[in-house]
Amino acid sequence: MLLILVVLSLPGLVRCFQPLFTFDGNSSTHRDITQRAVLRKTAEVCRDIAASEGRDFSLTIDDSLSADKVQRACSSTGTSTTLLSSVIFQTSIAGMYFSNAIVDVVFALSEEHHFDDETFQGGRDVITSGVSAVKASVKLENFVAGRWTLGRVCHTLQDFYSHSNWVELGNNAPYSTLIRPDQPLENLAGPSIPTCRNCTGGNCANNLLPDLLQQGLLTSGYFNIFSSAKPAGKCSHGGLFDQTSRQDPVGGINKDKVGSSHGSLHHKAADLAVNATIELLEDIRVAVGDRNFLRLMGLSQSSVLCFVIDTTGSMSDDIAEAKRVSFEIIDSKRGTQQEPSAYILVPFNDPGFGPLLMTTNADVFKDSINKLSASGGGDIPEMCLSGLQLALTAAPSSSEIFVFTDAPAKDAHLKSTITALIENRKSVVNFMLTDVLVSRRRRRGIQGVNSRSMSQSDAQLYRDLARASGGQAIEVTKSELSVATSIIEDSSASAVVTVFQVMRSPGRPDNFTFTVDGSLRNMTAYITGASSLTFSLTSSTGVSQSSSQSSGPLASFTTAGNLRRISLNTDNETGSWQISVNSNSPYSVKVTGQSSVNFIYNLVEAHEGAHGDFSLKEGRPLSGGNASLLVSVTGSDTVKVTEVTLFDSSGPTEVNGSLQSMGSGNFLVTFTGVPAGDFVVRLKGEDSSSTSRSTASSFQRQASTQIKTSGISVTTQVNNTNIEPGSTISVPFTVATTTNGVINNSATGTFTVRANNDRSYTSTSSSTVTIASGSGGTANSTVTLTVPASAASGTDVTLTIEAENAAASDVNYAVLRFSVAAKVTDVTRPVCQVVSTSTSCLSSSSLCASSQWEFVANLTDGVNGTGIESITVRQGNGTLNTSTVAGASGENITVATYSASCCSQNVELVAVDKCSSPANSLILDDETGPSYQETAQQPGRMQTALGRGEEE
Ligand SMILES: *[C@@H]1O[C@H](CO)[C@@H](O)[C@H](O)[C@H]1NC(C)=O
Ligand SMILES: *[C@@H]1O[C@H](CO)[C@@H](O)[C@H](O)[C@H]1NC(C)=O
Ligand SMILES: *[C@@H]1O[C@H](CO)[C@@H](O)[C@H](O)[C@H]1NC(C)=O
Ligand SMILES: *[C@@H]1O[C@H](CO)[C@@H](O)[C@H](O)[C@H]1NC(C)=O
Ligand SMILES: *[C@@H]1O[C@H](CO)[C@@H](O)[C@H](O)[C@H]1NC(C)=O
Repeated sequence: MLLILVVLSLPGLVRCFQPLFTFDGNSSTHRDITQRAVLRKTAEVCRDIAASEGRDFSLTIDDSLSADKVQRACSSTGTSTTLLSSVIFQTSIAGMYFSNAIVDVVFALSEEHHFDDETFQGGRDVITSGVSAVKASVKLENFVAGRWTLGRVCHTLQDFYSHSNWVELGNNAPYSTLIRPDQPLENLAGPSIPTCRNCTGGNCANNLLPDLLQQGLLTSGYFNIFSSAKPAGKCSHGGLFDQTSRQDPVGGINKDKVGSSHGSLHHKAADLAVNATIELLEDIRVAVGDRNFLRLMGLSQSSVLCFVIDTTGSMSDDIAEAKRVSFEIIDSKRGTQQEPSAYILVPFNDPGFGPLLMTTNADVFKDSINKLSASGGGDIPEMCLSGLQLALTAAPSSSEIFVFTDAPAKDAHLKSTITALIENRKSVVNFMLTDVLVSRRRRRGIQGVNSRSMSQSDAQLYRDLARASGGQAIEVTKSELSVATSIIEDSSASAVVTVFQVMRSPGRPDNFTFTVDGSLRNMTAYITGASSLTFSLTSSTGVSQSSSQSSGPLASFTTAGNLRRISLNTDNETGSWQISVNSNSPYSVKVTGQSSVNFIYNLVEAHEGAHGDFSLKEGRPLSGGNASLLVSVTGSDTVKVTEVTLFDSSGPTEVNGSLQSMGSGNFLVTFTGVPAGDFVVRLKGEDSSSTSRSTASSFQRQASTQIKTSGISVTTQVNNTNIEPGSTISVPFTVATTTNGVINNSATGTFTVRANNDRSYTSTSSSTVTIASGSGGTANSTVTLTVPASAASGTDVTLTIEAENAAASDVNYAVLRFSVAAKVTDVTRPVCQVVSTSTSCLSSSSLCASSQWEFVANLTDGVNGTGIESITVRQGNGTLNTSTVAGASGENITVATYSASCCSQNVELVAVDKCSSPANSLILDDETGPSYQETAQQPGRMQTALGRGEEE
């Protein structure tokens, strides 16, 4: 353990393609490589789908693709009326490159994760078992977990091209064997074969031994940060941190950057890594199908519709309303691009909550919501937060969640866990609280009779959670609920963005300005607050309207309970608007619109040192310390970001970030000395494309989720991210108190520890940790997590470890994600054998319609295989029939009979086995060669050329 602690705190330990950024302006990073591959493969899949549906697809697929371009090209229906947003796609791509980058932190010392030390077998096992886990996750529709695993797998695959001599051997194609567990790894330089000689005068261009290159033997560099020992004559990785590279033979062979030992081959290695990543993505695509592949890539326009509903006795009106509004959304959007990408429903009462329903089938959702009935309970608080927790972990990040209840939460102790989840997932939680006011009145009148009633502090819990997420706590009577649910319909529109949001608690009169830009449509403002609250609006041209006018030149609005929904008329009124609110009670203001221009952001953490880079930071930034964000702007190639601030939405504090452009709309933003508080990210910029006027239009966007700072540091030390079913892992963690972002090594104190996981797996931890005096200001402890033997491969589990100070005034946490992955036993691909073909097609294509051709093939997964799960036609429009017979040694043989018109002489069949091991596909191509032949032409694919004898 000590070893790992030391390593993780070492500065700048980067020995692969840089994870996220390069500052030499010229090298490719894992982020670039992953993004290029994902964009190209996604575009190819969209192109193939378009071709199969007879649609045009005009996008040129090359390295100039952006997420916006791919998203636009992939959206099949007319784009003129619908605003597109690439936020979901960009968030998914970021998920993949962040998990890719984290391999350098979690697996810093593992040679097989980086193909160091000639660990080719180990490296390939990392890849192929990871790919199986990705396929298993997709099968369970666990796309978030699938992406997370995929990013990690890509890291190892990509490192091969930088760390081995594959490029130096003159190869121009990826080494496909790395994704094929059933193929032998050949031509490896054995342990006793010398591979390198000294670099001369710092020049490593010719340090690989000529014999090695002549014989085509594969090797990779040795790497060690502690010891210079390596086997005699072996190459090193090279670079500042690699001690082995100072040992004879000195120097290295890595191509991580243009300045590396073999840096002149950096671009070649990066390009091959892109092509290898594309090949890996194709393998997954073949196994999971085009539709699921696009979902894995996150190519979705629409968000999920997610309801968490109290089902106790008094809730029948609310349930009826949830049903009405969801049916309306479903029926009006079915078949369009705004149709929710999934539906999530979580019922709760007391003592029960769940189960969670998550489906892409609107009818299944309708059926489930129809079956909800309000019963029982009635006089006890409900398990609201437990239900919300399920929804938060299942929904994709940045989802909007609606909670319907009329009772206090019985499980209020989950508040800090829910807050951590909200921060982690960036989802927005809105509460539809009915009859809070009525109950309060009743309670005053008839003491004790209506104990479902919510006290102010009960309601405050919901308000606090809403606020932390950027959502709203709407308090209405049951009869007003149907007016308030218009916010649910608003949130299901396409490309919704937040322009401005602020909170005043306690309330005070205040004026707020926000910028309306030309790309915004359908702007809506929401003000929650006491019924005595008044407000007025002033447009950029000085037109005013007060709240005494419910319909006027600038807006029309409706009121339901504490919510005013204001529909703004911003036509030709771009520029600075003002809302003045007059209230001494707490209130919130939120201004939204629809626009393609938006941004995503992630907190990142610097690794200091010579080649400093960043990785995703989960948990809260430290009060008084520095914080960094990676910000990506979507929706326009012409946007210029001018300002990114951390904005305290309840007070005057605003911290300005310094911006560093990383190209393609990405910015690294650094904040120094972030004070204690709750912040949201606000971005301002100029877009020269959005208006016809010659001047650029200013715009602003605001993130919903609050970023809270903490004076507590919680760090974990894990060296694995996969868990086998039935096993237990230990997660060591360290708690410390910090001052201005630095560990205070004379501090002492006791902290409450909470470890929660979203699967309710057994987990143990001590309930407190104590920093003793003389301990250097830190305390160590361990959490264990046990995955049940019955857990399916592809399940993900998120573990949150929280530490709270004794005064319960400060909390910080660490978030860890694991994938459940059973050992893969079936590594063989399905085998396909063509039994017979009839080739009666005539050579004259004008007569093709009058004749048919047919073939029969036997497909098996072998005696030890798990069996064939599916056979599908990937290309060709003939008829496929399958039947199953028993083979000689008892294995199942699937007999595929395919017949087609001679006008359609190509067919590609894809067979996928149950274990998600590599898919195999058979391509029959009735065009070339006089006789039947099998060639392993494309990796992972058996290509069969079947000819009828061309007449010369
Ligand atoms: C990668 O693949 C593309 C398209 O197949 C090809 O044009 C390119 O040359 C390949 N790159 C390398 C470095 O082999
Ligand atoms: C390689 O370089 C090292 C250090 O410069 C030197 O000690 C050693 O003798 C050299 N080996 C050969 C074979 O030249
Ligand atoms: C808001 O603006 C009005 C007029 O522009 C001004 O009279 C008033 O003092 C301002 N209120 C606050 C709280 O700044
Ligand atoms: C704005 O709202 C109207 C009516 O709600 C809708 O028809 C229109 O499509 C929306 N505009 C955009 C850009 O989505
Ligand atoms: C906005 O401007 C356009 C052209 O500049 C004009 O045709 C349209 O009538 C204007 N709309 C309003 C509401 O003033």
